[in-house]
Parts: sequence; structure tokens; C-alpha cells
Amino acid sequence: MNVLDLARPELRHLKPYSSARMEAGRASVMLNANESPYAPFSDDTLGLNRYPDPQPAVLLDRLADIYGVRPEQLFVGRGSDEAIDLLVRAFCRAELDAVLISPPTFGMYAVAAAVQGAAVVSVPLRAADDFALDVPALLAALTVHPIKLIFVCTPNNPTGASVPIAQITELLAGVAGRALVVVDEAYAEFADTPSLTQMLDLYPNLLVLRTLSKAYGLAGARIGALIAANSIISLIRRIMAPYPLATPCGADATIARLQHLQTTRTERQRLSAALAAHPAVRHVWPSAANFLVFRVDDAKASWNGLINAGVIVRDVSHYLGLANCLRVSIGAPQENDAFLAALTRPPAA
Ligand SMILES: Cc1ncc(COP(=O)(O)O)c(C=O)c1O
Repeated sequence: MNVLDLARPELRHLKPYSSARMEAGRASVMLNANESPYAPFSDDTLGLNRYPDPQPAVLLDRLADIYGVRPEQLFVGRGSDEAIDLLVRAFCRAELDAVLISPPTFGMYAVAAAVQGAAVVSVPLRAADDFALDVPALLAALTVHPIKLIFVCTPNNPTGASVPIAQITELLAGVAGRALVVVDEAYAEFADTPSLTQMLDLYPNLLVLRTLSKAYGLAGARIGALIAANSIISLIRRIMAPYPLATPCGADATIARLQHLQTTRTERQRLSAALAAHPAVRHVWPSAANFLVFRVDDAKASWNGLINAGVIVRDVSHYLGLANCLRVSIGAPQENDAFLAALTRPPAA
């Protein structure tokens, strides 16, 4: 079965919008896009009066290099958030199809599904086993629900747990021809497990999400990638916004280097040990990402105490299985010190 058979039938034959920049690249006289011929600032070196390339070749080549894939296997958009949204729109028919998620997990999968009118089927992570993925229960869900996309987040946000590759390949094989498995590797650079991108040629139903927002320090630039079979990428490029990326995103200077990866890993270890020994902390979960989730007696009170000291963390108590839990991102060493010092303070009255 061709994976495209899983796409919304009306999209498979959609005639995409054809932007000026797609129809004809660049020339010395460009009069085809109703742009201004005048640079917006006297020192503009980016040519911001011109529409950007929809999928800049420099960026595609660079990301293909980083991830060890071919440029035609990549869609680059405004963060991986955009890829999640486009995937749900491409594969889920409103009121008919469903996505499968394993809570507690990243919230955008369910939001994108709700916006599209797709159902969300939940198979919780196994809380008693450090939030491990429940593959048999995921496979069972497929026999009862019309699931098109299965989102697997590794390392998972907000628990920090990595999913072993063997579990993902078991899932991929078990749902072949019926559903796509979207492996969200937003935090992969902080983990020791290899990327699933190496398996793309073996499993046509495997899709991988990557982002420059975390380890590459570019959250403000909004650059994320979907990596998948060429046929899926062509479909996504047909339904994308005409110009998904702002011009500076495609500029050589923006394409980043990994940011202080070793410091973050060392600080994760230090913070994890300090939290485990902290009198206010009940439990710290192991994390392969750039954050830690931990349980306190009263998350709201601890959160308030921290904010009063000028430190913001995330209260994740509303996530399934994470009552009274906070998530702290691994900051620079002095920020982590400030966090640890503030956590020792009694909560504000
Ligand atoms: C698991 C996961 N996936 C995707 C994203 C979205 O990242 P971005 O849109 O910045 O690429 C996030 C953001 O926090 C995340 O935690």
C-alpha cells in the first residue's frame, strides 16, 4: 500500500497554489510578484522587499546534512508546530479520522486534531514504569478506532523519557499500511538514543519531526522540519502556506550550531541530583531532554514561591499522571543556581 492512500482523498488531487517565486525563481528584473522594488532599510542586505524562497535550498541542504537525509525528504516550516498542523490536515478527515497520542505528552497534537475536527484517542504512558510507551495498547487501539496518525514523542515532553527504538519499530511494523507513526524528536540532541531518521528508508510509514528551537538555540527564528518519504513531503509542500519561512530563516548566518550541549547535559545531571536531595521534592524523573519534571507537595505553592523570586517554571500538574508536578528547563548554570536557591524558600503567603 502506498502511504499516500492514507491522505485525505480530496487533497491527493489538489491543484496547489502556485506562488510567483515557485513559478520562476529570481532574475535581475523581477516584476512578477507585486513586490516593492525598493529596499525597506538603507542597510538591508537580505532583500526583504522580495518574497522569500518557499523552501530555501541552502537551508534544505544544511538540514539534510545535519539529519543525514536527502533534501527532498524535508519540509521546513515555522517550527515543528507547523508540520504537526499540516500533517493532521493532510491525513485526517474531519469527523471521520483520529489521531493517537500517549499522554502525558506535548499538547499540540491534540490541539491540531481538534482544530481539524479529528478525534483524539489516548493510550496513556505507563506511569508506574517511568512513563514508558504502551505499545500493545497502542496496537489494540488501532483495531477499534479509525486512526491515521500516531504521535510518539521521544524524549517525551513533559516527562523526559526516551522511547527505545525497538518499541518504535514494533509499532511501525504493527501499523504498516494502516497508519503513519510521527516520531517527534524535538529534544533528540540531548538524548543518547540514535535518531529514527536512519530508519526512514526501511519504514515508509515513519515520519520524523525535528526542530532548531531547542539544541540549536533558535526558538525565535521558528524553523522546524518534517522528514519523511518524498511522496509525503510533496503532499505537505502542496498544502503549505505560499511562503512559510521568513527570509532571514534561509540566510546562511541563521543556520545555527549546536548550543552548549555538553553544559546542558552536565547541568541536567547536577540539577537532577540537587532536586532528588531537596527537602521540598518528592520525586524527580530521569530525563533525556533539556528539562526535568519533579513532584512537590503543593505545585501551586512552589510555583508561586518561585515566581515571587523571579523564576518561572512550568506547572504541569494538569497533565495526566503528573499531579503536583513542575517542569524546569535546564538553564545556564547561574540560572539553575537561582532556581535551586528560590525553591528552598518557603512559598509566599
Ligand atoms: C515535543 C515538542 N514538539 C514540538 C515542539 C514545537 O517546537 P517548534 O515549533 O518550536 O519547532 C515542542 C515545543 O516545545 C515540543 O516540546
